[in-house]
Amino acid sequence: MKDLMRYTSILLIFVLASCGGGDSAPPAEEAQEPAPAEEGMAAPAMDLPEGVTAAMVAEGETVFTGAGICFTCHLEGGVGGPLAPDLTDDVWLNIDGSYESIVQNIMTGVPEPVEHPGLMLPKGGAPITDEQVNAVAAYVWTLSNGS
Ligand code: HEC
Repeated sequence: MKDLMRYTSILLIFVLASCGGGDSAPPAEEAQEPAPAEEGMAAPAMDLPEGVTAAMVAEGETVFTGAGICFTCHLEGGVGGPLAPDLTDDVWLNIDGSYESIVQNIMTGVPEPVEHPGLMLPKGGAPITDEQVNAVAAYVWTLSNGS
């Protein structure tokens, strides 16, 4: 009985640890860098690509950090890590960075990564719908287009 309790608490610690222990998420939100005044006029809101809505971007963020498991490789906020590239800069390894190319990339995955050791499966290997792919692509697009 003692053993069982000990085992249970060890298991509990493990479960807590692998969940990140609650609210210990790093403050990795995109730094609010002021957009360079390159466009002449002040843009009140970002010009989203055609067919993309703010609601899709918002849903896409939840897909990125949830059902789509994108953050497990690209990390929270898409800043990149050892397993997957930064999605917040304007350097693209496989695509031109347009919304369509991001959708396409997520649909097909990256069977032969340019710089990373492991591949990306279609849809990141997650059981997400095409609609969720469009949404998460919208979110990814905003990461490198100043939000
Ligand atoms: C198992 C790890 C993994 C997961 C999960 C994953 N990716 Fe990737 N992703 C990669 C790798 C590896 C590449 C290609 C890197 C290379 O070419 O060196 C990549 C590339 C990309 C690119 C193109 C980047 C570029 O510079 O060309 C996008 C966009 C992208 N992923 C979005 C996503 C989204 C959205 C999700 C979630 C639906 C996701 N990824 C899930 C590993 C992952």
